[in-house]
Amino acid sequence: MAEIQRVGVVGCGLMGSGIAEVCARAGLNVTVTEVSAEALAAGRKRVESSLSRALQRGKLDEATHAATLEKLSFTTDIGEFADVDLSIEAVAENEQIKLDIFKTLDKVITSPDAILASNTSSIPIMKLGMATSRPDKVVGIHFFNPVPVLKLVELVTSLLTSPETAERSSAFASGVLGKHVIRSQDRAGFIVNALLVPYILSAIRMMDSGFASADDIDNGMVLGCAHPMGPLALADLIGLDTIKAIADSMYEEFKEPLYFAPPLLLRMVDAGLLGKKSGRGFHDYH
Ligand code: CAA
Repeated sequence: MAEIQRVGVVGCGLMGSGIAEVCARAGLNVTVTEVSAEALAAGRKRVESSLSRALQRGKLDEATHAATLEKLSFTTDIGEFADVDLSIEAVAENEQIKLDIFKTLDKVITSPDAILASNTSSIPIMKLGMATSRPDKVVGIHFFNPVPVLKLVELVTSLLTSPETAERSSAFASGVLGKHVIRSQDRAGFIVNALLVPYILSAIRMMDSGFASADDIDNGMVLGCAHPMGPLALADLIGLDTIKAIADSMYEEFKEPLYFAPPLLLRMVDAGLLGKKSGRGFHDYH
């Protein structure tokens, strides 16, 4: 079985740019694709700024910085994924868009050994697998934001993912990228979001009911429980649209009230108050 050397990353938003960066820093050849030239340019800027920051902070030397940039290529043509050994889809949490991407990847990627992974937080891997002719090669490799900092990867196998695909993906995430791998069954939210999202939704309900201010809720968890950030600041980091999408998937799967997106979250998404990426969410970033 060929070693994973060429990686294709679909989507260069918050997660895709971090995934592309860690793969290139691990010495892999990485091709990144986006839907439009504008989105691609923004994604490229995100990766390049993060690498410059790592250089300035002394985490990368000049030579490694230059070598990492050379490993990255950017294109709007997903046809350039023909010879990848591994594709990682990291677009927004929209099931139809992901299904379309998996159909396209199935047509484009020529190697029968290639792994088709998704960074989805909550959409069933089984559904993505069934959009292809090779569900045994489809797996969830779920990273955490900021990807260059956080050590965890959730490995999610569907009923049809082959043990070999799971093993190769796990070896890739731990051996090549240096991440700690935990394994989850294919249930909406997997392990981390099944615990994290109800906690964030509770914080939003607490604020919405006038129980406490955003700052007091966040300080409560930072200073009282030593979390690196409070639940509302974390929601801002993840993106409120993403939180809503994950909550909706989990509610659809389990029909549990604790996964139900509260009205304040819906109105903030309607208003474009999406958190850090839009400049304002529960906190102001201007
Ligand atoms: N890219 C690369 N490095 C980054 C970074 C980024 N976007 N953001 C921070 N860092 C690095 C900094 O360079 C710094 O490194 P050094 O200490 O080596 O210099 C280190 O992280 C700490 O950064 P800061 O001092 O700027 O800030 P901080 O100490 O407040 O940490 C944080 C920031 C890393 C974001 C931290 O607050 C944290 O870990 N928060 C929790 C994040 C979290 O829970 N993420 C999971 C979200 S859930 C998810 O992603 C999955 C999903 O499906 C929704």
